[in-house]
Amino acid sequence: MFRTDIYINRRNALRNLVPSGVILFLGHAESPVNYPGNTYRFRQDSNFLYFFGLNLPRLAGVIDIEEETDCLYGDDPDIEDIIWTGNLPSMEELAARAGISSVWPYRDLRIKLLSAIRKGRKIHFAPPYRGDSKIILSELLGIRIGELDNYASKKLIRSIVQLRSEKEPCEIEEIEKACDTGYEMHTLAMRLCKPGIFEYQITGVMEGIAGAANGMTSFPSIQSQNSEILHNHSHNNILQSGKMLVTDAGAETYMGYASDFTRTIPVDGKFTAKQLDIYNIVLAANNLAQEIAKPGTFYFDVHIAAAKVIAEGLKNVGLMKGDVDDAVQSGAHALFFPHGLGHMMGLDVHDMEDLGEKYVGYDDEIQRSTQFGTANLRLGRRLKKNFVLTVEPGIYFIPALIAKWETEKINSSFINFRKVKEYLDFGGIRLEDNIVVTDEGCRRLGQKRIPITKEEVEEEMNK
Ligand code: GLY
Ligand code: MN
Ligand code: MN
Repeated sequence: MFRTDIYINRRNALRNLVPSGVILFLGHAESPVNYPGNTYRFRQDSNFLYFFGLNLPRLAGVIDIEEETDCLYGDDPDIEDIIWTGNLPSMEELAARAGISSVWPYRDLRIKLLSAIRKGRKIHFAPPYRGDSKIILSELLGIRIGELDNYASKKLIRSIVQLRSEKEPCEIEEIEKACDTGYEMHTLAMRLCKPGIFEYQITGVMEGIAGAANGMTSFPSIQSQNSEILHNHSHNNILQSGKMLVTDAGAETYMGYASDFTRTIPVDGKFTAKQLDIYNIVLAANNLAQEIAKPGTFYFDVHIAAAKVIAEGLKNVGLMKGDVDDAVQSGAHALFFPHGLGHMMGLDVHDMEDLGEKYVGYDDEIQRSTQFGTANLRLGRRLKKNFVLTVEPGIYFIPALIAKWETEKINSSFINFRKVKEYLDFGGIRLEDNIVVTDEGCRRLGQKRIPITKEEVEEEMNK
């Protein structure tokens, strides 16, 4: 946990943004794998973690604006708990760590909420995303499960987004730790990669590094020689000479903060000229994005600038044609770059995605594009100091998408389909770094950049 005053300050900041009512944060329960006593590793709800810091199951927090109280609901360990899990902190001790003096048994949460509802007071809650939380909320508030999202508090959502978007120094320090673990994960993967071994042999060892840093991975690792598949969670292929291995993986620290990096490397430990041509375009797009991301700039514009680097580069290789600005305006680059340049990152790898990207990545100034590809951009709004985000351009040759565009003549004035067909077995390349927005620009997170130039990657792979 951070210092107690961090959580007190966060709750006070929230009070200043939500003028009235009762704010309810449900912590997570344990989640069973195949019977109640055999659980997945516990992961607390990130909003609860942010405002209360307590990383234990079956807790709830209530901030009562008018009564000016912060209350913690949960049950003291009984003798059965102590026999199986050893001495556990009392609720009073836990509450003290979070700076709370009002502590109640979990069952009293219902009484508190019923009394507020009877008085016609607003109960603010964030949209629940886990099944068990939906059931508990539905029973507590008397709202049908399917209706919960409609009753989630927009005021609370916007307030949480406002607070969680600008990272505090202690949070950036935690994210840097996750980045340093990410560095170890990726460089190990580079050293292990060679033809003839299964992808999972690398994945398993790489993910162990996150555990050895007292955390876990921040999302299921993507690691595949079928590198044109954006989010491929299967690791069952034997690595083949001539292919490229994409690794999109990050660590989550014990405190819950994430990193999220991607590197794409040649299975043979040496890039071919054809691979390098495309690789260097993606690298140039990544570098340019980091050069121009700064406070006040729309991340949408950074995405478009990266898309232009990609279109220009592909034109030079003969895969695209025509005017680059027109091509990007018309969305032609999205045949090769069908996802967004990046997203917010923090306690969640896609930070606050549970609250809705409409609020996290966009705002009253800018709404999400509806154009194919750019519609997948999760963060378009103006950057502010201390935003933490990813920069992850890519170029992919996705046979089914290429076939569809060619058949339907989509953007055919900008695509050289005959040349594109020479790349149907090429795969894809994505290069992802993590940055924090500073006073005048941005800074890459992590002590060292994960090897990214041809020379750096080949040197690491051949260590
Ligand atoms: N790890 C998924 C992503 O890069 O957004
Ligand atoms: Mn990623
Ligand atoms: Mn990412």
